Amino acid sequence: MREIVLSGIRSTGNLHLGNYLGAVQNFVKMQHDSNCFFFIADFHSLTTHPTPADLHKSVRQVLVEYLAAGLDPEVSTLYIQSDVPEIAELYLLLNMNAYLGELERTTSFKEKARKQPENVNAGLLTYPVLMAADIVVHHADKVPVGKDQEQNLEMARKFARRFNNMYSVDYFKEPVAYNFGKELIKIPGLDGTGKMGKSEGNGIFLADDEKTIRKKIMRAVTDSGPTEPNSQMSESVKNLFSILDIVSSKDTVEYFKEKYNSCEIRYGDLKKQLAEDVIKLIAPINKRIQEIDSNTDYISKVARMGAEKARASAVKTLQEVREIIGIRKFY
Ligand code: TRP
Repeated sequence: MREIVLSGIRSTGNLHLGNYLGAVQNFVKMQHDSNCFFFIADFHSLTTHPTPADLHKSVRQVLVEYLAAGLDPEVSTLYIQSDVPEIAELYLLLNMNAYLGELERTTSFKEKARKQPENVNAGLLTYPVLMAADIVVHHADKVPVGKDQEQNLEMARKFARRFNNMYSVDYFKEPVAYNFGKELIKIPGLDGTGKMGKSEGNGIFLADDEKTIRKKIMRAVTDSGPTEPNSQMSESVKNLFSILDIVSSKDTVEYFKEKYNSCEIRYGDLKKQLAEDVIKLIAPINKRIQEIDSNTDYISKVARMGAEKARASAVKTLQEVREIIGIRKFY
């Protein structure tokens, strides 16, 4: 049996270069080795009360971008969470064994409650239960998550274990966190501070057109230039070189390193080259985004196929869970 890998994707936020070269490229490779489930977590998004139009638009956009980035709906199971009502049912059932105290102590809950004090809803509190339902509904072995999601995964294990103990069964597996370790390429941002993220002026998005990419890179933070040969690079310049390292040829990287070390570097030239090489990488994906975006039939075909595959697995789980719990039909 192939290992089951499952990943939930937030429905907000477009893919940036860091997402693509990091987790998404790993997903694309992984789908051929494991039995992969990828879904867009639109139920989870409701905790922040998006408008209906925004919610629908962002779910569609995320689907389009992941397809363009190379997730193959024929190979993996790619679906939208709300297309699988069994997830909501399992969430209800798991909620009966999730305790107020432990939910209130969750870091992500406390953080969100602080961020949106006017909207501390029950969905926010039970977010980890819904996430557990997402995972155990397909009996996932591995869940690729970032550091910020590890506690939620720990809770999923706890809820799975608790269910097994409560009903004296060995039914649910305990999913383990999977981080790609060294394989995960980390892309720094353009504003001279740490990782590429969503914040303004820091990220390059797969949906950005060439002009936007050029503009963003030309505006990237640098310093006033080296004054002594072989001097240490500032964080911001180091960041540009790290991106160059990944998107450009060895010769190009060498060329600019030499220029830096001999204090002859012009950051404008470095940025121009970097922009061209980033565009070379993004342009074909950007083109795919546009093609898929304009093909509504294809999008609906993919969504339907994903829903059918995901439901086949989820329906079976819910039948078994109902039987274990004692919810048995009288007709
Ligand atoms: N909470 C995850 C995030 O914010 C998204 C998510 C929802 C998820 N359900 C999941 C991730 C199940 C992994 C497994 O990124």
